[in-house]
Amino acid sequence: MRKQILLLALLLVNAAVFAQTIDVIPKPVSFEKHDGNFTLNSSTRLLFDQNNEDEKVLAEMAVQLIADASGLNLKVQSPNSNTLEGNITLQLNQPYNEQIGTEGYQLEIRNDRVFLNANTTAGLYYGVQTIWQMFTAADGKTLSGGDITDSPRFSWRGMHLDVSRHFLPVEFIYKYIDYIALHKMNVFHWHLVDDQGWRIEIKKYPKLTQVGAWRADREDLDWQARKEPVKESESKYGGFYTQEEIQSVVAYAQKKHVTVIPEIEMPAHVMSALAAYPEYSCTGEYIPVPPGGIWPITHIYCAGKEETFNFLEDVLSEVMDLFPSRYIHIGGDEATKTEWEKCELCQQRMKDEHLADEHELQAYFIKRIEKFLNNYGRQLIGWDEILEGGLNPSATIMSWRGSAPGTKAAKLGHDVVMSPASHCYFDYYQGDRSLEPQAFSGHITLKKVYGFEPVPEELSAEEAKHILGGQANLWTEYVPTGEHAEYMVMPRMTALAEVLWSTKESRDWGDFSKRLESQYKRFDKLGINYATSAFQVSADPELNIDKKIIKVKLSTEAWQPEIRYTTDGSEPGINSTKYTGPFEITSTSTVKAVVVKNGKPMSKALATPFFIHKAIACPVSLKYPNSKYYNAGGDLALVDGIKGSINHSDGNWKGFNGDDMVATVDLGETKSFSTVNVGTLQNYGAWIFYPGEMIVETSNDGQNFKQLGRVKNKVSPSNSKTQIQDLEVKKKTSARYVRVTLKNLGTCPKGHAGEGKAAWLFADEITIE
Ligand code: ACM
Ligand code: ZN
Repeated sequence: MRKQILLLALLLVNAAVFAQTIDVIPKPVSFEKHDGNFTLNSSTRLLFDQNNEDEKVLAEMAVQLIADASGLNLKVQSPNSNTLEGNITLQLNQPYNEQIGTEGYQLEIRNDRVFLNANTTAGLYYGVQTIWQMFTAADGKTLSGGDITDSPRFSWRGMHLDVSRHFLPVEFIYKYIDYIALHKMNVFHWHLVDDQGWRIEIKKYPKLTQVGAWRADREDLDWQARKEPVKESESKYGGFYTQEEIQSVVAYAQKKHVTVIPEIEMPAHVMSALAAYPEYSCTGEYIPVPPGGIWPITHIYCAGKEETFNFLEDVLSEVMDLFPSRYIHIGGDEATKTEWEKCELCQQRMKDEHLADEHELQAYFIKRIEKFLNNYGRQLIGWDEILEGGLNPSATIMSWRGSAPGTKAAKLGHDVVMSPASHCYFDYYQGDRSLEPQAFSGHITLKKVYGFEPVPEELSAEEAKHILGGQANLWTEYVPTGEHAEYMVMPRMTALAEVLWSTKESRDWGDFSKRLESQYKRFDKLGINYATSAFQVSADPELNIDKKIIKVKLSTEAWQPEIRYTTDGSEPGINSTKYTGPFEITSTSTVKAVVVKNGKPMSKALATPFFIHKAIACPVSLKYPNSKYYNAGGDLALVDGIKGSINHSDGNWKGFNGDDMVATVDLGETKSFSTVNVGTLQNYGAWIFYPGEMIVETSNDGQNFKQLGRVKNKVSPSNSKTQIQDLEVKKKTSARYVRVTLKNLGTCPKGHAGEGKAAWLFADEITIE
């Protein structure tokens, strides 16, 4: 009896292990292991109802996927009662199976058959994706026996793509849809309109693409530093999609069960439209299509002119003809309403419609457009700013400024798609800035995406039903090509796909990162330019104040990584020291580390210098406090042996808004030294400028200081390249107190977006040797 119980327990443990290790992403809702495997051979057939056109389309894709995995081209036929054995059968349920809903499927895999059923072809399509993944995780021909019942947690599983900031060719759009479908996601949010380019052909307004799709080529300059074009004739960079191309994309996406949702921005992010048709702005004055960053966004449609609404209704009519989606996205974000405040027509509209302020005027604008869309049976969706000034509950909100607007909207009865910048902005860095191509600021690693929870805790079960799902956004200011776009979204969309499809309870980072190993192999097979940033090593230092040394812990987001590192400056490789746990740094040195796999480094090497100098862990007092936003973890940040990186928000920099930095270091006793070195940062786009100069003074009593030396910065504040500069005074001396003064530029320079406003000064580390 006992033995039997033990055996049973072992079997259960085994089943649990198998249940955890089905090598599919997103993880199916349930998997029950059965003995035996199904193996393809040259006589295996794919059975489906050949009289059903949708099933035919699906079967063609299934044959292709199986051929890619196995090299075998399955013959197809319609099923009958004695053909199940030896074959793979796809079947639509009759009657409807409530358990799996409109997108779920059930898959039965036995020695002698594979049987896939679903209520819809979408469900069958996702089942086929699972079969393909299982083949590719094994030898390409074998499926391990079991029963899978699967259906998505959310109905909106989206990926956005901005094609305005950089125009991406239509060939890439097809690929992007492939990637969405591969991840069992189902929404492609196509951001077709923004200041820097209008990308959709509108027959009634040809200048939208003749003029609005083209801008001066400033691709050699940083996005934030691009001057406006001087002449219209400069407009050379750009492109657009013809209506025929768009129809083909929509039809292609339909076959892959992806809904394409167009975004036609209004009332802001439309300088491209106003360049073509200035008559729809408040002033009517010509403006060019800007070739780079614009902030704040004041050139917006006039809300006072009837002509604006006629124009937008004409545009939306053509858009609705092209896109059969239930939802039409109208943007609605980031409109600065200074033109509306000055415009007689806008002010008249506010009077006529009894609107209290310009927010209510925006609400009037959005509601009017919503009514128009509703007349055609469509639903309006917009960014969370459309909540300002009041909105009909029928409008759907895309929550991007965190989850809070989405929470508020759900409580008000709106449907919501969660796309908070904290977890879903794939234009942000996914790894260490020094190892990544330039991206928008911010840092969202793979693990961070995996930790995204679309349903806020504050919502009741009833309110939570308004959360339709989630979506990641790829803004393309720093993404000039399709290949680069792939790099930014993969594999972060793999993590998002699991968040949006699988059950909340089944989420398990370790298990996911293991399954990701097979996903990388699939990406390799498909030739996808995915990021290996999860293999980057990061160093987590801990300052030991008593011993004045640093203990370094290394980590990655990869599964069971083999980390190799050096501290002597040499490049790390397979023969370098294997990392087994935290180690001590007792003299200035650079830690270089990589993950190696199959004898090869998996990413660029981390290189982090640590400075063990005479001021380490000494008390520092500041004459003017640093900004609470850039405190760098406290008093010792300037003397912790770690220098700030090119990322101004890496948690190492002390930031001063408009103030000088006057820092006095107490070395505890009189010490001799010959250099005082301070790191400084310039990031034009973030309003951070090098100090004008550095003055170093010394004292033995902490009261009376005398100047040791001074050094001037020589880099222009208008230099827009983000950069780091060490200012250094070299002179042999001895003292107990060292006072360092960095002179803040004061205000942002002429021509800068913040001209005349307080400039930031960033400093780290004060190194004394
Ligand atoms: C947005 O990022 N402005 C929606
Ligand atoms: Zn106006």
